[in-house]
Amino acid sequence: MCGIVGYIGKKDTKSILIEGLKELEYRGYDSAGIALLQNDKIEVFKAVGKIKNLEEKVLQNTTCCTNFDTLTLGIGHTRWATHGKPTELNAHPHLGVYSYVVHNGIIENYKELKEELTLSGHIFVSQTDTEVIVHLFEYYFNQYNDANRSFKETIERLHGAYSILLITKSEPNKIFFMKHGSPLAIAKGNDDGEIYFASSDAPLIGLANDVVYLEDGMSGVASIYGIEFSHSVQWSTLPTNKLFAQKNGFRFFMEKEIYEQKDVVVDSMMGRLKDDTIVFDELTHDILEGINEIKICACGTSYHAGLTASYLFERLSKIRCTVEIASEFRYKEPLLTPDTLFIVISQSGETADTLEALKMAKNGGLKSIAVCNVDNSSMTRVADATILLRAGIEKGVASTKAFSTQTVVLWMMSLYFGTIRGVLAKEKLEIELQTLREIPNSLKVEDKLHEKCRRLSKRYLHGHGFFFIGRDVFFPLALEGALKLKEISYLHAEGYPAGEMKHGPIALADPELFTIALMPQHLHYDKIKSNVEELSARDSTICAISPLPFELSDDFINTKKTNHYMLEFFEMLIVLQLFSMEISVRLGNDVDMPRNLAKSVTVE
Ligand code: F6R
Repeated sequence: MCGIVGYIGKKDTKSILIEGLKELEYRGYDSAGIALLQNDKIEVFKAVGKIKNLEEKVLQNTTCCTNFDTLTLGIGHTRWATHGKPTELNAHPHLGVYSYVVHNGIIENYKELKEELTLSGHIFVSQTDTEVIVHLFEYYFNQYNDANRSFKETIERLHGAYSILLITKSEPNKIFFMKHGSPLAIAKGNDDGEIYFASSDAPLIGLANDVVYLEDGMSGVASIYGIEFSHSVQWSTLPTNKLFAQKNGFRFFMEKEIYEQKDVVVDSMMGRLKDDTIVFDELTHDILEGINEIKICACGTSYHAGLTASYLFERLSKIRCTVEIASEFRYKEPLLTPDTLFIVISQSGETADTLEALKMAKNGGLKSIAVCNVDNSSMTRVADATILLRAGIEKGVASTKAFSTQTVVLWMMSLYFGTIRGVLAKEKLEIELQTLREIPNSLKVEDKLHEKCRRLSKRYLHGHGFFFIGRDVFFPLALEGALKLKEISYLHAEGYPAGEMKHGPIALADPELFTIALMPQHLHYDKIKSNVEELSARDSTICAISPLPFELSDDFINTKKTNHYMLEFFEMLIVLQLFSMEISVRLGNDVDMPRNLAKSVTVE
């Protein structure tokens, strides 16, 4: 996702910024830019696509800021489009008249601020929320002629999440900074007076030793003479290993990706979840014209997200929805009719079976949407419309944050469709929107929960298999839990609809058959309870996951009490991901690169 770098010092600022941005490439982005300030000259460069496009521009066009004896300040940014398309105009740094800003996060009240500033004569050129920051700063500076005060007044007016670096010709030796929501670190360089900024450790390693990880609400101003912080800070030592830094200090990419789900879902909802409605700029209002059915096609984890969505589309959009595994769909000679909206779901956008299914649907004249994490991937180029997940690059082979963002995006789509079809009552919509806002909290990994999963994992390393069971949307979640366990622990696991056990699988029940029971309070609790009791009566070992105590369980993972089944869904997802990861660790497996698997399956 978006990344920030900054530098004050006498070295080659442009190269330091470009190299810093390269270190952030692993997070994913679609455009990048830097601004350089030396004395009263500012130069800015922006490019869409890879950092090397930006680098070429910088090398060919830098005219100022080439004198290394003179102090040069610089700020840089990689952008993953949220408000407005990935264009140069929308790329950061954003300009006022004499100042530039880079920003990670979202300014929730940017529309009001933009209106106010436009009325007082400020001219906006981009579609971003970020641009209001630099105009607000100049609005105050024009009144007070005091950069410190203007920056403080500016940040007091902002609502939302905002980590910011701002430079201005009015104080050409300083970088103003603020952290709220998104991460921001400041490091002292190895040379005298040098200061580096970055949104994660990777760009700082090797260049600095001492670092401050800013806490929310901290701001200040830095110059070659030192840093003034708004609050007292704690300096710590930077790690020396880049890979470790890229994993943000976690043991595995999978672990990092599990932990960052609470943040990436915020990006998935950004600009789409409004006060009282859902908006998808990527879709036109006539998307459902002539449509009587949705067909979803996907593979693996993405298929499980699709299956979850099929419940939500029928429940909330009141539209028939079928889901198919792409490799089956391709060869079944499917009947394709133009009243079907065809949705493919894919993290990579390159999965061969899903891509071929999409092409078949296109050739059959169906409208199509790709719900995908990788912009410009093959599926996004074939589909009529694309809705990006904005999960950032997923490195662990076992998919985690792709699933949570897919589910969030598809849930929002079901609300959007329900609204444009006029079948979703206002009160119901309000509840769903409020629940969406609470998802980051449900996806937060509490230490206690992780520790519980770690401790329990030692009891589940043997046996002859696992049943993951659930009902309704908790059935696809059970499938996903079983798939995660299979992939990285190499233990046999199956997901089943809980009510289906008595139709055959229960014959396997014995103490060495582990049942992982998803028992949400708010969706068919009594029904699933009876199903689990049936398994317990046949001596299966039961690990129940529920906010309600269940006396027949052998092990119990207590989830939080909430008021909506989807919040239970996301917390249980975290439990299942952690549980399989900890089993895999105990078995000594390679968590990030399990045997026989590839991240992108481009063969059929
Ligand atoms: C499971 C996993 C796979 C993928 C599947 C589809 O953890 O990663 O099951 O979900 O190969 O991949 P995408 O979503 O890239 O189409």
